[in-house]
Amino acid sequence: MHVTHLSLADFRSYARVEVPLDPGVTAFVGANGQGKTNLVEAVGYLATLGSHRVSSDAPLVRMGAERAVIRAAVTQGERSQLVELELNPGRANRARINRSSQVKPRDVLGIIRTVLFAPEDLALIKGDPGERRRFLDELITARSPRMAGVRSDYERVLKQRNTLLKSAAMARRHGGRSMDMSTLDVWDQHLGRVGAELLAQRLDLIAALQPLADKAYEQVAPGGGPVVLEYRSSLGEGIEAAQSKDELYEQLISALVEVRKQEIERGVTLVGPHRDDLVLKLGRLPAKGYASHGESWSYALALRLASYDLLRTEGNEPVLVLDDVFAELDVRRRERLAELVAPGEQVLVTAAVDDDVPGVLAGVRFAVSEGAVDRV
Ligand SMILES: Nc1ncnc2c1ncn2[C@@H]1O[C@H](COP(=O)(O)OP(=O)(O)OP(=O)(O)O)[C@@H](O)[C@H]1O
Ligand SMILES: [Mg+2]
Repeated sequence: MHVTHLSLADFRSYARVEVPLDPGVTAFVGANGQGKTNLVEAVGYLATLGSHRVSSDAPLVRMGAERAVIRAAVTQGERSQLVELELNPGRANRARINRSSQVKPRDVLGIIRTVLFAPEDLALIKGDPGERRRFLDELITARSPRMAGVRSDYERVLKQRNTLLKSAAMARRHGGRSMDMSTLDVWDQHLGRVGAELLAQRLDLIAALQPLADKAYEQVAPGGGPVVLEYRSSLGEGIEAAQSKDELYEQLISALVEVRKQEIERGVTLVGPHRDDLVLKLGRLPAKGYASHGESWSYALALRLASYDLLRTEGNEPVLVLDDVFAELDVRRRERLAELVAPGEQVLVTAAVDDDVPGVLAGVRFAVSEGAVDRV
């Protein structure tokens, strides 16, 4: 698929902007702070309902404006669709497809797929487990948009279960009436059911990603691997992709039984996918804490390239977005990456100067300056 037109109103620094897009490579070039990343961030938002830079919507709305609108025309094969999202910080966002009456924002997922690689991705390697869980869960949702519902169900169940545990912890401390455990049993079952589904999807994803990530790392940094992806579950050792959802459910439930006493003492849910991590190893060592800056960067890039490969082979080719990545790479890695991505159906690149965009990525160029986006 590819985006044929992007239109923004009161998004980030843009009051209004219209950007017609072609398939193939498009580079947005301009000095720092001119609004290049803002453009690709908007495309990414349509694909994930989130920004790769901030966790809330407020910074995405132009200072002084009340709401932002992102609109994109998308072509997949013979089919064209118009997707529109209205961002209303503090209130519900709104969505429309093909100018129809409103749909849920979540219904938009799957129409645009992106794989976005940006400097922020270094946090995938060096950051907290939450970064890696988000990486997995966003990719799960790109593979199967219905997982957005499962993810939000999980978050809701977790929140309610935590509230219950918190009040149990309070009651205990203040010598109040002890809680009715059957209520907690019910929440255990909810958490187990939704958690097992999320867990099964993550394990399946990691198994699919493993060979692709190793291959991608070899392409970006030859001889530097191997890359090993290991899921570290709060359920303990022995959690494997081969397990059925029912088995994972049983394991999650029995883990919850095991930690219940501690949970009531501490007032939080101690096991489940929200406590898990993806351990990224380079050779025998974990990348986090051991890998050099350049290795970490190559690792993050390999994970994104592997994601791209996976989504592409599973159907609907995603738009590849490379935000400011070439400047970080030495000339050889730059050329390698450029050759890898050049054949993509649509590749959006941002760079501060023309020279940062490798020659193989000759395509359409836009100059981005003070809110104006002009084809050059
Ligand atoms: N909500 C907002 N309202 C108004 N302006 C904003 C808002 N959010 C960001 N900006 C402005 O957008 C500009 C940043 O744009 P962007 O991140 O796209 O820059 P860039 O061209 O990618 O720069 P760089 O080359 O440094 O990465 C900043 O000047 C910032 O002040
Ligand atoms: Mg930028």
